[in-house]
Amino acid sequence: MGSRVAALVPAAGQGARMGTEVPKQFLTLGGAPLLVHALRILGAADVVTEIILVVPKADYGYCQQELLPSLGLEKPIKVVMGGARRQDSVRLGLQAVSPDMDFVLVHDAARPFVTVEMVEQAVDAAKVHGASIVAIPMRDTVKRVTPDAVIQSTLDREGLWLAQTPQVFRIGLLVEAHQKGEKDGVEATDDAFLVERLGYRVWVVPGSLENIKITKPEDRLMGEAILAARANRMSI
Ligand code: CTP
Ligand code: MG
Repeated sequence: MGSRVAALVPAAGQGARMGTEVPKQFLTLGGAPLLVHALRILGAADVVTEIILVVPKADYGYCQQELLPSLGLEKPIKVVMGGARRQDSVRLGLQAVSPDMDFVLVHDAARPFVTVEMVEQAVDAAKVHGASIVAIPMRDTVKRVTPDAVIQSTLDREGLWLAQTPQVFRIGLLVEAHQKGEKDGVEATDDAFLVERLGYRVWVVPGSLENIKITKPEDRLMGEAILAARANRMSI
């Protein structure tokens, strides 16, 4: 089986939970727009052949004409306009993947601390099994809580993992999963869910505590702390 990998980067959200005027993927982290961090890692990972960056319509011109040229990435990169929901953005991005790709690696622009090693491990697992995601086991006790803040139940933490990205799939499998999800009117916050629904087995490889998604304002502080720790050769 071939092993050409397209990296699809959803960056077309509005960042409602961040609450800033500028969508969070364009806010500064370590002196660069947030989305640049993931793009640099995907650009540096030899296993990635091409990159598809999915951005809000309003930011298409800026990304195409200013942001990407300033990065000087040494592999083909296409910019695509996204849709209303994350799954719409991924579906639109899939349409731009070159026909000779064997796998698609989906990685959220909002996760700046992905590593080349994580990318390689996820791709290796997908080559063997067809579908893989990175995830970490839950560490805390998990409660189901009512809207008025009363504990309803305590879940058994055993076997509960937190899904991250990258998530890697044989391209035909992910296209089929998105088509079926669309046909069935399913809402999905990650791609693995759509593939699971096909009855396909998705394998899990270790993510990391550092591979956070920048979602709320406090996550930007955490992000700066992770960058500072890395600069001091520390890791959490
Ligand atoms: N995303 C996207 N298109 C959308 C919605 C989300 O490409 N219509 C992207 C985001 O830009 C982000 C990733 O999917 O890189 C993960 O989504 P999330 O963290 O939920 O970002 P937002 O949807 O922008 O944030 P919020 O849910 O707080 O509005
Ligand atoms: Mg969202």
